Amino acid sequence: MENFHKYACQRIITFGKWIVNSKSPEIKSFLKSEGAKIRGHTYNNCYEENGILYKSYLNTHNGYPSDDRLLSLFKKQIKPNHIYKMLTDEGLNLNGIGLDIGCSIGSSTFELSKKLTYVFGIDLSFSFILEARKIMHHRKRRNMEFIVADATNLPFKSKFFHSIAALNVIDRLDFNKLIFSVNSSIKKNGKLILIDPYHFDDDNGYDKFDSNQIRKILEKFRYKINNEESYIPWIMKINERSYLFYFVDFIEAKKND
Ligand SMILES: C[S@@+](CC[C@H](N)C(=O)[O-])C[C@H]1O[C@@H](n2cnc3c(N)ncnc32)[C@H](O)[C@@H]1O
Repeated sequence: MENFHKYACQRIITFGKWIVNSKSPEIKSFLKSEGAKIRGHTYNNCYEENGILYKSYLNTHNGYPSDDRLLSLFKKQIKPNHIYKMLTDEGLNLNGIGLDIGCSIGSSTFELSKKLTYVFGIDLSFSFILEARKIMHHRKRRNMEFIVADATNLPFKSKFFHSIAALNVIDRLDFNKLIFSVNSSIKKNGKLILIDPYHFDDDNGYDKFDSNQIRKILEKFRYKINNEESYIPWIMKINERSYLFYFVDFIEAKKND
């Protein structure tokens, strides 16, 4: 993490739990001294435990009952985990060492691990990575690892990955930085999969892009795009009475050089 102080300020409740729960006196003392430096604005990121979107991702991962109130109203069946399952499509032909960017609790990483030799799931949320690792140990999966890391500052050596996927992430961060970081990590002829609703926030200060603009940027970085713009339904339950519904675009791109 490039800036630990900033990272702690963005997840202050999680940070407090690290202090309370740390077993090593050295780590406890380090965290306390970092805590003492915190003065200004703090908050708890929505993807950390107790955050509004934390529980929703757990629900999605565990699947919805067949009599779910909203889903049973639709004529066409919509499966909340459909977009994750698409990663194992034969036609995609993903292989080698992979990276899943902004993996949350690993729904897409577990799918990728069925096709890839080894896959790393990375996310800024400490709580998601903790949960993903628990599931990984429970399922006794060996060809994967989950790491807290910033997608715009990846901790891997250059040209390391044959396959990189980012689902519902590019509208959550600075895409200009992300594409540089992805580009230096992907091998020649590597595959990049981007799935996104392009729901860019108004107030995070990052540039916003639509499907055409994202494709143009990828072409500028010498990716060959293999498919047309798509509208794939993706649904997530927030609580008993509210859902998020998106049509996501699916980009399959190959790095040319
Ligand atoms: C909308 S969620 C998508 C989660 C998952 N890919 C999925 O589709 O189920 C966005 C995720 O990106 C993570 N994230 C946001 N900025 C990030 C960054 N700079 N580096 C790594 N992960 C990031 C968030 O913590 C969150 O888990």
